[in-house]
Amino acid sequence: MIELAPSILSADFARLGEQVHAASAGGASLIHVDVMDGHFVPNLTIGPPVVKSLRKVTDLPLDCHLMIDNPDEFIPVFAELGVNWISVHQEAVRHLNRTLHLIRSHNCQAGVVINPATPVETLSEVLDIVDYVLVMSVNPGFGAQKFIPSTLHKMRRLTEIRSQRGLDYRIEVDGGVALDTIADVVRSGAEILVAGNAVFGSGDPKKNAEELLRAGTEAALQKV
Ligand code: DX5
Ligand code: ZN
Repeated sequence: MIELAPSILSADFARLGEQVHAASAGGASLIHVDVMDGHFVPNLTIGPPVVKSLRKVTDLPLDCHLMIDNPDEFIPVFAELGVNWISVHQEAVRHLNRTLHLIRSHNCQAGVVINPATPVETLSEVLDIVDYVLVMSVNPGFGAQKFIPSTLHKMRRLTEIRSQRGLDYRIEVDGGVALDTIADVVRSGAEILVAGNAVFGSGDPKKNAEELLRAGTEAALQKV
């Protein structure tokens, strides 16, 4: 099943609640929250106060993508605010096994993220303790960047490894997902599609979400 996770990074922050409602009316099943610290990535975005407000306006699961150094410090904070999914970057964490268990100990779904330059092989020792793997298809830090097609093989590889090893993690993709790239990511195995600019960049977020979901679901049906 294909799920859409609109990234609020491209939303109008002055009308955040309204925009999130529109995206969920369009079929979004989780809300992707990009947390950046200005160190791990060259941008600053959302922190706990915004997540606290967001939690009050939607019942959808909040998918918190931590692009920060030392995520262990903030995992308990976000978990207590009621986020449901937390992902950390392989490149940012020194003790990945410990960090993933920390996320799980807070009853959140635990995800690991890899940048475009990071191979899938670096995850081999943690694939059995994650609920999802997030493949970055742009370099993290900004919305509305161009999709990097050379990341597609990593979604295919993760699909293969999952069946070879009998694992059950889900595969999420983030960056440049739009109507012109969605079929490729879905055919490569991505199941949870993050989209910022394609949902909130222009036009009606509800309609944009509906169109993306329709295109993603069609591509998934063609795959079988
Ligand atoms: C990038 C963020 C993404 C971003 C995706 O660092 O992790 O979630 O919002 O935005 P689009 O869909 O515009 O590429
Ligand atoms: Zn993200």
